[in-house]
Amino acid sequence: MSDSHLAELAQHAPGLRLSTEAGDLEAFGRDWTRRWTPAPLAIAWPTSIDEVQAIARWASAQAVALVPSGGRTGLSGGAVAAHGELVVSFARMNRILGFDPLDRTLTVQPGAILQTVQEAAREHGLIYPVDFAARGSCSIGGNIATNAGGIRVIRYGNTREWIAGIKLVTASGELLDLNRGLVKNSSGYDLRHLAIAAEGTLGMVVEATLRLTDPPPPSQVMLLALPALDALMPVFAACRRTLNLSAFEFFTDRALQHVLAHGARRPFDGDSPCYAVIEFDAADATQQDAALALFEHCLGEGWVVDGVISQSQAHAAELWRLREGVTESLAAHKPYKNDVSVRIAAVPAFLVEMQALLAREYPHFDVVWFGHIGDGNLHVNVLRPAGMDEAEFIAQCERVTRLLADALARHGGSISAEHGIGLVKKAYLQGTRSAAEIAIMRGLRRAFDPQGLLNPGKLFDPE
Ligand code: MLT
Ligand code: ZN
Repeated sequence: MSDSHLAELAQHAPGLRLSTEAGDLEAFGRDWTRRWTPAPLAIAWPTSIDEVQAIARWASAQAVALVPSGGRTGLSGGAVAAHGELVVSFARMNRILGFDPLDRTLTVQPGAILQTVQEAAREHGLIYPVDFAARGSCSIGGNIATNAGGIRVIRYGNTREWIAGIKLVTASGELLDLNRGLVKNSSGYDLRHLAIAAEGTLGMVVEATLRLTDPPPPSQVMLLALPALDALMPVFAACRRTLNLSAFEFFTDRALQHVLAHGARRPFDGDSPCYAVIEFDAADATQQDAALALFEHCLGEGWVVDGVISQSQAHAAELWRLREGVTESLAAHKPYKNDVSVRIAAVPAFLVEMQALLAREYPHFDVVWFGHIGDGNLHVNVLRPAGMDEAEFIAQCERVTRLLADALARHGGSISAEHGIGLVKKAYLQGTRSAAEIAIMRGLRRAFDPQGLLNPGKLFDPE
């Protein structure tokens, strides 16, 4: 690709900001995986749908691959540009475009930061309920690309549930207005839902209409110390029966040690193998008493050894920090991440198998478990032992991930619950999707993008 091609793009889209500066190529060619060496052709920062369409038309004529890019907080390599692609950054398309009180929707540009969207919803007395620790830097476009989940899926579902409409620019530069914000629309294939979790392989999201909802009643957060991982699901079942849950999360003692080393405050005097963070409606004394009774019951059953209930919002935030701070506390170690899910009913049997597998295969590695156990979603982060070469470490983890993928296939689970397949997990896709499903996915990709120019190599390799 020569400079004259980029000059032609500049001609097609006068005013489009472009950069081939080394620092930009480095920063915008990578995501939080930091495993691949960035090598994009250039970075483009469109400010309008017209400019995105001009980029797509140019790329299609010149056969240049495009990598759509948001906050680059992805954990699967979905936004990596390592092969001369043009990165299309939506950082300058980050505005809230409008609020409709009757529809209760917010229309936003794809680069809008999740936290900005949450705050905009609150200004109108409503909430956008998708939430997770990267809220301050991840973008709505990236959330849509991965069908992001987070900490309140148990009550509100994933990003998919909150997308009323999407404007999508296809590889040829066509603009599709998918679902138009409609509540009811029985007019054939819902292409909006195909674009969600497509990791940018079917088109570039250039606008999204998000559904909002009423704020929840006041809540409390309870942190429970458990004597073993196996106690998690009995506690969850008891909570599900008696409380209105908005979150049921867990982390192990290894995770706690890292978060404490990162500055968090120790919650209990003693150590326990595992902890649950539970958020529940606590609007009145009846609900608060139910939580205390539940705690006593779990204590009596031997499922819990200690516990604390938040006494203020600041206290709740402190308890949440123990769970939400895990990723940041591990970041310097560049952990190898698994993000797997099984049906909630399959969690107990899967946990038993997974514990045995990881103990056997990683006897000398620091293995940190945490995640959204109430959704059947576990994060396993493996830390590289000091002195071990990175390539050797990844090779070992990939061998174990293959075994994990086999176990997931047996338990009917998924190799990616919420982070996406990207580059990291495409080798394991067949454990989660049948050959027939993958063939249809490939066919859909061809229909949207016949030349395979949109985020090539993500989800699956080109045929
Ligand atoms: C989380 O649950 O904290 C996020 O998915 C991030 C991670 O898994 O590292
Ligand atoms: Zn997560």
